[in-house]
Amino acid sequence: MTENEIAAGGSPLGKEKSAIKINKVRKVFTRNDEEIEAIKEVNLDIKEGEFVSVVGPSGCGKSTFLHIVGGFIDKTSGEVIVNGKEVNKPGPDRGMMFQESTLYPWLKVDRNVAWGLEVQKLPKKEIKERVEYFLKLVGLWEFKNNLPSELSGGMKQRVSLAKVLAFNPEVLLMDEPFGALDSQTREMMQAELQRIWSESRKSVLFVTHDIEEAVFLSDYVVVLSKRPSTVKEVIKIDLPRPREISIRKSYDFVDYRNKIWDLLHEEQNVKQLRGV
Ligand SMILES: Nc1ncnc2c1ncn2[C@@H]1O[C@H](COP(=O)(O)OP(=O)(O)O)[C@@H](O)[C@H]1O
Ligand SMILES: [Mg+2]
Repeated sequence: MTENEIAAGGSPLGKEKSAIKINKVRKVFTRNDEEIEAIKEVNLDIKEGEFVSVVGPSGCGKSTFLHIVGGFIDKTSGEVIVNGKEVNKPGPDRGMMFQESTLYPWLKVDRNVAWGLEVQKLPKKEIKERVEYFLKLVGLWEFKNNLPSELSGGMKQRVSLAKVLAFNPEVLLMDEPFGALDSQTREMMQAELQRIWSESRKSVLFVTHDIEEAVFLSDYVVVLSKRPSTVKEVIKIDLPRPREISIRKSYDFVDYRNKIWDLLHEEQNVKQLRGV
């Protein structure tokens, strides 16, 4: 991921092609004539098929960063390149998933997954095949005729994931997608996401404030500084895959967790904790 690692043999998958390249991205918000510098400078190079998480203190600019990559927020300066093309607006090459479910409550599960494909005017047969394939992939095919209100929070997020994957985006951008779930459901969803990622081979940029979630899922964890954010450190997670839920108890896992915990706590000062 870094220049040195590329020279030393490349990413964990041995692929050298960049999926997402971030060059000197900076973001300053203007609110009531006041300037708020959210991102000072972020540089990243995510290779095809990699799972990369971003952690950082609350309010440091994680969501802003992900929305810039998604093309939903304009950057002040810098470049975002996805599969060789510079991006400035949303596009079907980038699938986004958020903490809150974005399903339409009045549409059944299969119609929710089909909706975006119908808007794209894909042939009916292809829509049907994709809906079935991705609902099976997330293990919810038998719930195809249910309404979102009839599903648990975890199931709703699995449908949201099927909906995003059905577009066949080149990269997945996820902003705390399991943040609203209870801790047990969350662990189950992390294991599911790992399985789905390993089958779909997508490049993933995943924002979370949960250190263990980041270590469990990632090839690399990017630690951002406090606002205005810069990349404080990029940590390569050298744990074997597939990872069992119980890997959290291993010494190596706990070492990674502690290292990231220390980095994050260096960034928090008493003023921030008091919210002043
Ligand atoms: N639309 C906006 N206008 C002004 N300031 C914003 C806007 N969106 C976010 N910010 C500010 O930018 C900073 C980073 O926010 P955010 O990206 O949501 O942080 P995180 O996701 O890391 O918690 C915060 O100080 C926030 O108040
Ligand atoms: Mg956020």
